[in-house]
Amino acid sequence: MKNSSRRGFMGKAFGAVAGVGAVGALYAMKKTWDPLPSVKAAGFTTLDMSAYNENELVVEKWRGKPIFVLKKTAEMVAKQTKEQTARDIKIGDNHFMVSIGLCTHLGCIPAYNPDEEGFLCACHGGQFDFSGDVKKSPPPRGLDIPPFKIVGQKLVLGEVGPEYTAMKENGITL
Ligand code: FES
Repeated sequence: MKNSSRRGFMGKAFGAVAGVGAVGALYAMKKTWDPLPSVKAAGFTTLDMSAYNENELVVEKWRGKPIFVLKKTAEMVAKQTKEQTARDIKIGDNHFMVSIGLCTHLGCIPAYNPDEEGFLCACHGGQFDFSGDVKKSPPPRGLDIPPFKIVGQKLVLGEVGPEYTAMKENGITL
């Protein structure tokens, strides 16, 4: 009787320890599965699109990559081709060129010249226009456009909105 109650107690104690252990292990596993807070925050970059000046390139950062943001002037919008317009991100009445700032040839960072309204990649002389489209080879395609979602005056990089989906479907970006 004494023995069995002792066994009962030990059994319960062991069960309780095992239970705590199991919960602890599950918690540890969940912690491992959950993305780190910094990764979660790094996955998305929110840009306030009301903060940019026309024809002034700003280099933002998203997932460790440079992101070119260029607010177009009314003159640029008026003179651009249909293909260039197709690459625009429109927020209200404003047109923006937003792209990953890495040359599609071998990954150098092209420089923007506001007077010429275009980019020059110093590595092998590739050129892009103010829409990020190729003007001069060797780059095989225009600058890639990161996944984006328009939320009011903000642009969330890393989220996929209908405008980005349409660009992908139309082959405007990879
Ligand atoms: S890396 Fe830009 S032209 Fe070669």
